[in-house]
Amino acid sequence: MTENTPNNAADRIVSAMRVTGRMHLGNYHGALKNWLELQNKYECFFFAADWHGLTTNYEESAGIADQSLFMVQDWLAAGLDPKLATIFIQSGVPEHAELHLLLSMITPLSWLERVPTYKDQQDKLKDKDLATYGFLGYPLLQSADILIYKAGLVPVGEDQVVHVELTREIARRFNYIYGRGKDFIQRAEEALQKMGKKHANTFRKLLKRYQEEGDREALSEGHNLLQMQSNLSSNDSDSLAGYLEGHGRLILHEPEAMLTKESKFPGLDGQKMSKSYDNTIALTEDPASVTQKIKRMQTDPARIKRTDPGDPEKCPVWEWHKIYSDTEVQSWASNGCKTAGIGCLDCKKPLIDAVINEQKPIIERAQYFAENPQLVEKILREGAEQARTVAQQTLKEVRIAMGIA
Ligand code: TRP
Ligand code: SF4
Repeated sequence: MTENTPNNAADRIVSAMRVTGRMHLGNYHGALKNWLELQNKYECFFFAADWHGLTTNYEESAGIADQSLFMVQDWLAAGLDPKLATIFIQSGVPEHAELHLLLSMITPLSWLERVPTYKDQQDKLKDKDLATYGFLGYPLLQSADILIYKAGLVPVGEDQVVHVELTREIARRFNYIYGRGKDFIQRAEEALQKMGKKHANTFRKLLKRYQEEGDREALSEGHNLLQMQSNLSSNDSDSLAGYLEGHGRLILHEPEAMLTKESKFPGLDGQKMSKSYDNTIALTEDPASVTQKIKRMQTDPARIKRTDPGDPEKCPVWEWHKIYSDTEVQSWASNGCKTAGIGCLDCKKPLIDAVINEQKPIIERAQYFAENPQLVEKILREGAEQARTVAQQTLKEVRIAMGIA
């Protein structure tokens, strides 16, 4: 549903990772590689969500600034490029926090309480007291993160889709409450003049068709017509879009979730790779340690002796082959496993090589950034500055709409 996304907001992407420190291969094959592609196609804002890190780790917060830096260092080492994407740390753009505060005024408590991650995480992280104000607000802070850039698309994993849904509801509620100022219709009419007679007439007809007959085709034609106008300011097209839809000036934009393909990248024990399961290989892990870890990696438990045939479908190593190996190596591994023609260590050998190969350039770049910390700081400073320019503009509109500026 891009019908209320004026201008080129549809091409703007916002995404983030909660600060957890160094990246591992699961992060790389999940989110990070996807970001690397997106930075070539869209206007991207990527940030390290350190405040989100605090919501669950407030008791061990001392290292969080360093962890943010390590995380960004790994992103850069993986190939995220500050010339292509705006990269920063969330707390470097305090506008997120002000928007979060302002949005909290209109957010019904029940909306936050019913977000499934709220209860899920409390159950999962039983050793932590997450009955806090900050943790309840986690998804609202995320909404502020997204809305402040008027993002069109938010690349996230399945578990985060509900947060994007909430973001849409918050945007709609905000626009509904604050969108239509006293002079709203007058402003829309003025904007309409700028389109020229012919287009203005077409627009009026479409508006009528949609509002009187509920014709959704007319709605999307109307949006298309607006998108074609080159002499409308973004405020003009916002108010016309709102005029067309019948609610109000669209101040905040409803984003869409862009589902990141679920990466089946199991950890060393076969569970999802995650720091909390202690089953990871760091993105910049040294080759000797990579070798050791893969050698000890879980295999099909039924293959006890070398002569026992195995079943690749029951083995996390096989999932790695699907990612790293070509079809030839895959059939060698699969046949060798089922016929006990190869041992598990043989099977792992090409993977050890592939992982080390993949990591080599990343480790080199990571080393370079580690030796030049002022470079990472500069990238982050400039990233935050760029982000703030956009964020301040939105915040200004929000303040005005709410009547506190
Ligand atoms: N909650 C997200 C996660 O755990 C991280 C996040 C914070 C985020 N702010 C965001 C993701 C804004 C997308 C957009 O993965
Ligand atoms: Fe797993 Fe390969 Fe051993 Fe089969 S041979 S159990 S796929 S490691």
